[in-house]
Amino acid sequence: MRIELEIWRQDDPSSPGRFESHVVSDAVPEMSLLELLDRLNDQIADAGGEPVQFESDCREGACGACGVTVDDVPHGPVPNTPSCRQHLRDFGNPERLRIEPLRSASFPVVRDLVVDRTALDRLIEAGGHVDVMAGTAADADQLLIGHEDAERALDFAACIGCGACVAACPNGAAHLFAGAKLAHLALLPHGKLERGRRAKAMVEVLETEFGPCGTYGSCVEVCPAGIPLEAVAAVHRERLRRVWRGRAD
Ligand code: FES
Repeated sequence: MRIELEIWRQDDPSSPGRFESHVVSDAVPEMSLLELLDRLNDQIADAGGEPVQFESDCREGACGACGVTVDDVPHGPVPNTPSCRQHLRDFGNPERLRIEPLRSASFPVVRDLVVDRTALDRLIEAGGHVDVMAGTAADADQLLIGHEDAERALDFAACIGCGACVAACPNGAAHLFAGAKLAHLALLPHGKLERGRRAKAMVEVLETEFGPCGTYGSCVEVCPAGIPLEAVAAVHRERLRRVWRGRAD
């Protein structure tokens, strides 16, 4: 199977980027997007060129390290699927693909398809950790949590931090990401501590490092973890709760 590729090449954050054309003539439908890039890099290296830089780690949808834009869609044409789990067979054995980095003003390009997503780290850092003097490990059943709350908290905790939601948003907002963290922790007893402080600090980073949320919903269409739009509402709810209560928790 022959695929023509247009690949974004950029030497460093300050260089202008460009698309470079390549052909992979021995692709197979079972290949994932990252395997296709591996194959391309073998070809480039055999020809004495510089391989295309891209990020990956688990290659099974768990870590959030991968993430490229394929034909203008963050992660690729298969909805709610990370780049490492996008297989050529799932998008009609394409003849042509254009692959570029995740695009957002908050994610400067480091090189080729690699972007700097530390803005997401700063958001998490602002939320801080839950500071509980727990002593020795408590019995698991000492602090009972309702089944429904536990399940919902786990649903929000499924976010893998890939940043596709930010890249998909026309405003470059990170409300789905931040809301997943806020909603996850607000549902659990330990997370209720420092809830107001956490919301205030995270909203400050949201407002300074990312764009405003216009509730377009394009973030949920690409999220590999299936985080619901309800997470965006959680940002507003937690922020208003903090304002009304006027104190840290
Ligand atoms: S490489 Fe880990 S989610 Fe894709």
